[in-house]
Amino acid sequence: MEPQARPEVEGLQAYSAPLEGRRGLLRLDFNENTVGPSPQVVEAIRAIPPDQYAVYPEYDGLREAVVANLAASGLGQPLTPEQIGLFNGVDAALHAIFHAYGDRGDTLLTTSPTFGYYTPCAQMQGMAIEAIPYRLPDFGFPLEELRAALQGCPRILLICNPNNPTGTRLAPELILDLAASAPGTLVVVDELYEAFTGDSLLPSADFAATPNLLVLRSLAKTAGLAGLRIGFAIGAAPVIDRIGRVTGPYDINSFAVTAAHAALADQAYVDSYVAEVLRARTWLVQQLQAAGVRHHAAGGNYLLIWPEHPVEEVEQRLGQAGILVRSMAAKPLIDGSLRVSIGTTEQMQRFWTAYLQAP
Ligand SMILES: Cc1ncc(COP(=O)(O)O)c(C=O)c1O
Repeated sequence: MEPQARPEVEGLQAYSAPLEGRRGLLRLDFNENTVGPSPQVVEAIRAIPPDQYAVYPEYDGLREAVVANLAASGLGQPLTPEQIGLFNGVDAALHAIFHAYGDRGDTLLTTSPTFGYYTPCAQMQGMAIEAIPYRLPDFGFPLEELRAALQGCPRILLICNPNNPTGTRLAPELILDLAASAPGTLVVVDELYEAFTGDSLLPSADFAATPNLLVLRSLAKTAGLAGLRIGFAIGAAPVIDRIGRVTGPYDINSFAVTAAHAALADQAYVDSYVAEVLRARTWLVQQLQAAGVRHHAAGGNYLLIWPEHPVEEVEQRLGQAGILVRSMAAKPLIDGSLRVSIGTTEQMQRFWTAYLQAP
């Protein structure tokens, strides 16, 4: 008989997403940047001399570059490099947060539906999960219910803001209040999509006043580095230290480090991509409204559409037209919808033409 893993792991289902065979297609299924990174990133990677492949990565200056980039868009209080954690994508940051803070029998408080990786991260630690549903019909944030649940002193509160997949936005002041009211709870705010249509905490956060607050950012969706894997945790230095303790010394590879430096130095490229996504979003929402298609567009670079025909059929037909979208079948509250990532206006025009023909 093979050796047994921990009971939590034996009972765990691996987090899997349909990630194969996507190249060459119009990928509106994972909320990625649909055009790729800045040319400066490409050049920086090409310039890495091959002998450097043989050397372990160096992280000198990267935390400082993150601080400078964040400071340029406004900070409540100045940040120091010790307040920045570097991770192999925000997924790795999430894993480290649960590893460091989530103990058997502790509770994760979150919302539902939300990003799928939070659940296995809690389960692998043996945590209980309390997931409060968004409010129908518009997927409003369940603030009162969440406030009441916070009284039970959960170990971790995870808020995805704006939420993937409902786009629900919560005002930063309300999150700061929640964090201040629950000093024993680590309040993690996943800001992966705030650059598109969202509300970052960083312009108002004071991590000295609320040291239990942690903000997550990634270069995956805005800067187009999803394949290279790099994400950041921003918070009080002691929290960053604890999640760093459960992270390997070289978890982020040299290509990601070089790409991150170049991407952070070319914010104008990200800003212009975000502006194009917002134009495309306005265009698509106009088409949906004019055609009377049920949809829900709030924060982030994605929206939900409820097709009249069965969602699997529409997803399949779009796939045949070379366009990938994500069915939300079986997800609480949004079963029967498709999540469609927003790319450029031209890409959304292509999507809309195919959608009208499907099934
Ligand atoms: C809300 C949310 N958080 C985190 C992630 C993972 O981000 P990264 O690619 O930086 O690991 C995703 C990716 O889809 C996401 O949607």
